[in-house]
Amino acid sequence: MKLAIFLVLAVVVIVECSHTFMGTSVQRAMVYHHDVQYSSKLFRKRVENLYYSMPAVPSNFGRVIQGILAFDLTFSGASANVTQGGIGYNFVNLRMKSDRGAKIHFDVYIFA
Ligand SMILES: *[C@@H]1O[C@H](CO)[C@@H](O)[C@H](O)[C@H]1NC(C)=O
Repeated sequence: MKLAIFLVLAVVVIVECSHTFMGTSVQRAMVYHHDVQYSSKLFRKRVENLYYSMPAVPSNFGRVIQGILAFDLTFSGASANVTQGGIGYNFVNLRMKSDRGAKIHFDVYIFA
């Protein structure tokens, strides 16, 4: 008897350059957009957090975040990671880190 095992790998996190894309934005409504900017710190990496929580209104009942996009507009070695919540939650904490001596500039979109 032959056993066929199908392994389905769903790649939901694609990190390209320093942009962060998670989940999907297809057919989802954009619920939040923010142009995050912080000035640079001399010789240092700057770390800032962005917290977003879906408003507790009836139309949001049962809705969760389905897509997160953080686009690095400095095109440097900056990075952004989700440290709390995120896909499947109604809130997200995004931690952004600049390159050494560079500013933080992320275009953040959240879809639900
Ligand atoms: C995000 O995670 C990667 C890999 O663990 C790490 O190299 C990077 O410094 C993290 N960025 C932030 C902003 O925490």
